[in-house]
This record gives sequence, C-alpha cells and structure tokens, in this order.
Amino acid sequence: MMNTELTSKLKTQYPIIQAPMAGGPTTPALVAAVSNAGGLGSLGAGYLSPEQIRSAFKEIRERTDRPFGVNLFVPEQPNTPEDIINEMNHYLNKYRVALNMASSTSIPSITESFEEQIQAVLEEKVPVFSFTFGIPSQEIIQAMKRNGTFVIGTATTVDEAAALEAAGVDAIVAQGSEAGGHRGSFLTSSPDALIGTMALVPQMVDHVSVPVIASGGIMDGRGLVASLSLGASAVQMGTAFLASAESGAHAAQKQRILSSNEDSTEMTKVYSGKAARGILTDFMKDMRSYEGSIPAYPIQNALTRDIRQAAARGNNPEYLSLWAGQGLRLAANLSAAEIVKQTVNQARHLIRNMGQFGE
Ligand SMILES: Cc1cc2nc3c(=O)[nH]c(=O)nc-3n(C[C@H](O)[C@H](O)[C@H](O)COP(=O)(O)O)c2cc1C
Repeated sequence: MMNTELTSKLKTQYPIIQAPMAGGPTTPALVAAVSNAGGLGSLGAGYLSPEQIRSAFKEIRERTDRPFGVNLFVPEQPNTPEDIINEMNHYLNKYRVALNMASSTSIPSITESFEEQIQAVLEEKVPVFSFTFGIPSQEIIQAMKRNGTFVIGTATTVDEAAALEAAGVDAIVAQGSEAGGHRGSFLTSSPDALIGTMALVPQMVDHVSVPVIASGGIMDGRGLVASLSLGASAVQMGTAFLASAESGAHAAQKQRILSSNEDSTEMTKVYSGKAARGILTDFMKDMRSYEGSIPAYPIQNALTRDIRQAAARGNNPEYLSLWAGQGLRLAANLSAAEIVKQTVNQARHLIRNMGQFGE
C-alpha cells in the first residue's frame, strides 16, 4: 500500500503520475501501461486534433480499464509584430537550406482549436484532465467537474498555485525548474521564475489546501520519498518515462537521453517562443544570437515546425527539440511497468530503512 490523499481521489494504487508529454512520447501504449502498473498514465494532447484525441482515448480504453489523464495547453494571444515574425521566418530559411528543404515565406497556421479539444475531452468523460500555460475559463473547469472529471492545474510559483486554487482545481502540479519541457508559468509577475522542486513544493503545500503534485527531476523511489517528505501527495515524472519501451519519443531523442548527463540541458525559447528545458543542440547554440527577437509562443513553434519535422525524418537530433529534465543520468530503457515497479520498490525500501531515524 502507498496511499495518499491523491491516490484515493485518482483511484490509483501508487502516487505516481506519468507526465503528459505532447509531441509524440505519450503514446496510448505508454499511458495504458502506466495505468495498468498502478500509476496514472497521461496523454499529452496539446498538439492533437479532436479526432486524434478521440482515437487515442479509444486505444487507451482498449488497453486498460484503469483511470488515465489527458492534458491540454491553455491558449495564449501572442502580440508579436508581423515584421518580427517575417524576419524570423526569413532567418530560419538558413536551416531549411541546410536540411534540403524548400524556403518559406508564408506563416503557418498556429494551433489546434482549444474549444474543440475541450469538447472531445468533455464528450469522452475522461477521469482526469490536466492543463498548463494558464487557467481555462470557469465554464470549462465547472463543466469538467460536473462530468466527474478530476481537474489538475500546473504552477511554477506559489502565486500561480493560489490562482489555480481560487479557480477551483482539484490538485496542482508544482513544476520545479529541473523539469523537462515547457515551463507552465502564466503570471506576468513571474514569467521566468525558475524555482527548484525542493524549494517550491513545501512552500506551495503551506499555501494551498488542495493536494500538490511534485514535478521536475524526479526519476525514481528516492525522488518519490523526498517529494512525499516535502508534503506532496504524488509525483509527476516525465523524463523517467521518455526512453521507456512504450514511449513514442523519436529514436534519436531516446538515444540522446540515454547518453546525456545532469548538465546536458538548457532552458531555451528558440524552438517555440516559450521557455522550455531540453538537451543542448546545434540549433539552440546557433540561435543564441537571436534570443532577443524570438516571436512569442505559439508563433515561433509554428515557424520551426517544418524544420523539426524534416530533422525527425532525417534522424538529425541537432534540429529536434530534445525536451528533457535534469535527472537525465537516471533515465533507463525499461518498460513503463518496470519503471513504476522499481520506483515503488525503492521507495518502500527507503521508507523502511528510514525508520531508524525516528528512534
Ligand atoms: C518531452 C516532454 C514533453 C512535455 N510535454 C508536456 C505537456 O504536453 N503538458 C504538460 O503539462 N507538461 C509537459 N511536460 C512537462 C511535464 O509535465 C513535467 O513537468 C516534467 O516532465 C517533469 O520533469 P522531469 O522531466 O524532470 O520528470 C513535458 C515534459 C517533457 C520532458
């Protein structure tokens, strides 16, 4: 048994959430494998169309009858002037030429329709809905709750957690700066807050009354026990599952993850216009001179999409976004079930051995 306030609410055996990871890693096979192993698998659906979301749910439900989650991006209204966008698109042609692609002068369409994605989630009555990059409308949060869906928001500061609690979420992911992928920061007072998980979790726990989920740099049973000690009710682990057998991460990304270290990542805005942690690539190094004039998310994300897709086709990791956290040395190519099992066993062993400190 490893019960916390959250395991009973999420109806999972263990306080382990596999992080939603948009862009391919969180396949239905991964989500279902984690849920079947006693954790909560989560589908990163931020870049999926409503049809893709529905078909992923179908496949997950064919593979498991346990609870699972889905995650979406709260949309933002960027206000980058058109000349900056055109200038960036022109500049990016340098990489398109290097990758034998056609140059581009047009600006691609931006994102999937959030309203339609939400509609798909509502119609499918998914057990858990999480979101990042902001707070959805009250209408959406209340509709989810009426549906019996458990609602989880993402915060990188105590103020963001307080705003999420006031909006009525059921639990909050405390995303520390070690975390791989995009920062969930959304309050303008702290756009670049980089608070580590160890510092963030206990401060958040002290200030909100809903359960807090620790996230960022948690890779095994040691991270789980540490997080529970800090007052978290569960952990959300991303990088730990990225190189797993069921992960849909690109083979070149998996290979990089398995050969990278704690100092291999950097925070960058060059791929998407929003701060995100990933393994350092030639593209990140080369774009450093442009850091000041990157169009805001999701514009830059749309502008670099064709480059990332060509890099994926050509197995060239230097132009891929290799999102990953600082726990990289601990990543392993195991099955998702094995990762959950090892994490739980190690945590149990540690808790038993720590008994001596209480005497
Ligand atoms: C490849 C990748 C993609 C991610 N995509 C999402 C996402 O779609 N939605 C989200 O809320 N968080 C996303 N995250 C962040 C995770 O939810 C979580 O905060 C992070 O993985 C925790 O840090 P760790 O990678 O050190 O475990 C992503 C992380 C990674 C590594």
